[in-house]
Amino acid sequence: MTDWIKVCNSDSLDQGEMFTFDHNEKKLLLTNMNGKIFATDRICTHAEADLSNGILTENGLTCPLHLSVFNMDDGAPQNPPAENPLQTYRTKIEDNNIFIEV
Ligand code: FES
Repeated sequence: MTDWIKVCNSDSLDQGEMFTFDHNEKKLLLTNMNGKIFATDRICTHAEADLSNGILTENGLTCPLHLSVFNMDDGAPQNPPAENPLQTYRTKIEDNNIFIEV
């Protein structure tokens, strides 16, 4: 069973920005890429770098440690060394609030 949880006001996440939060011991990350909101796990699947220290571009999120780039849509790594995708979560905006489904 899943729940929608309110994370933050949509005005606090401009294009190209990230927002970190924790929920039930999960370290999560919201990103605004090209005006679309994505939610993923925040810890890299390769060697556990914190992706909120990475670089967000229109192509994805680059890990700060070994530079794998993750697609925000499906969490898939676009290049080595990461091989496994990030967990992704559905998002929605209601009344200027961003929710994710966990
Ligand atoms: S820790 Fe992210 S690519 Fe190695």
